[in-house]
Amino acid sequence: MDLTDTYARRVLAYVVDLQSRNRDELGFLPRMALQEYIKRGQVIPAVDNDYWVGYVLYYDGRNGKRPQKHPDTVKIHQICVQHDARRILNAARLLANVETLARKNRFQYIKAWVATDIEANAFWRAMGYHLIAQRLGGQKRNRVHNLWCLKLPAVLPVATAIRTTTSGTSIAVPGVPRVIVT
Ligand SMILES: CC(C)(COP(=O)(O)OP(=O)(O)OC[C@H]1O[C@@H](n2cnc3c(N)ncnc32)[C@H](O)[C@@H]1OP(=O)(O)O)[C@@H](O)C(=O)NCCC(=O)NCCS
Repeated sequence: MDLTDTYARRVLAYVVDLQSRNRDELGFLPRMALQEYIKRGQVIPAVDNDYWVGYVLYYDGRNGKRPQKHPDTVKIHQICVQHDARRILNAARLLANVETLARKNRFQYIKAWVATDIEANAFWRAMGYHLIAQRLGGQKRNRVHNLWCLKLPAVLPVATAIRTTTSGTSIAVPGVPRVIVT
């Protein structure tokens, strides 16, 4: 995808704006880096009623190759939903998209580093991810980060599972062999 492409340029403008409004939670990726993720097709917008309401930005390698350091892992670097579209499973659907892609391409894990002091930790837990490690963040912000991880099944199950969230809302997740009740 070329960034002269109107769609790609619109995605970039959208992500730059939403990232800047959620900088405390998302951290910061410079415009050039965001462009590269968009070009590689690693940014998926969330669509609700024909409008973009959020996005997920992930890394599953480049130039047809898997990530060098952890070839079995898809990393989610940012997931964000606009304030006015939260708690209606937009992020859950974004995550389900990444999980489907990861399973198709036979990755084994999906992981995300998340600052310990933000609400999003409850989201990852609700989505069935496990807290497997912690690390110190940059000195400037003096934060600790959690590593959330989902182990993907080795084979594609036929069934569609239902993910049940804290409010009892359910989302169908094709190919996920589990029911999560939190
Ligand atoms: C975290 C974030 C992406 C969640 O988006 P969302 O679309 O509101 O999430 P969903 O509606 O899919 O939530 C699914 C479930 O996760 C849990 N959850 C989500 N946000 C939560 C919160 N703020 N507090 C507690 N639980 C939460 C709930 O169980 C929720 O289901 P329920 O509403 O039926 O109870 C959104 O709050 C956001 O963009 N935050 C700012 C950016 C950020 O922190 N990103 C993560 C770090 S990369």
